[in-house]
Amino acid sequence: MVLNIGILISQNGSNMLNIVKACHEKKINANVKIVISNNPYSKGLKKLKTFDTKSKILLLKNFKNKKAYEDKINEIFEQNYVNFICLAGYMKVLEKDFLKKWREKIINIHPSLLPSFKGLQPQKQAIEKKVKFSGCTIHYVNDTIDDGEIIDQAIVKVSEKETVESLKKKILIEEHKLYITVLKKISKVLK
Ligand code: GRF
Repeated sequence: MVLNIGILISQNGSNMLNIVKACHEKKINANVKIVISNNPYSKGLKKLKTFDTKSKILLLKNFKNKKAYEDKINEIFEQNYVNFICLAGYMKVLEKDFLKKWREKIINIHPSLLPSFKGLQPQKQAIEKKVKFSGCTIHYVNDTIDDGEIIDQAIVKVSEKETVESLKKKILIEEHKLYITVLKKISKVLK
């Protein structure tokens, strides 16, 4: 089955853009069908035009509740033949019903070596604990935050002088590589 990806973002969108680029350059046997952002100011969204990839901005406040908002996401994904979801810096918690529908067809990237440093600001948590190694994790999404089955991880060395900002940058470089590696593997086995 061809991987028809739908991406959900809330932030800069650098991971999203990187996935779109890899599909465009045929590094992965997949298509990004549509990107949905709940942040109209995401820098990555503007750059999407270059790749002719569809995008949509959906603001939760314009829906009567989270269910209506996620029903809309499902509707858009269905209309665009999406069969696999990548979360890439999506900052909203998805409801159980949504996740049940996409079970084993939805993955997320988190900037720490899970199960360490779940939740918000994992790079800051890592610096505060003075860990010597950190990294990023790609995992299936279940209904507990940052808890689903781990698919793959990449490691970075945390230096003596590391700051939260420098660690974020270092990890982001690995995130971009890891997302492509994982999607390559998944695109070969998806049924
Ligand atoms: C990444 O660090 C990702 O791991 C986390 O949010 C950040 C998103 O960055 N979940 P970007 O929007 O892809 O640049």
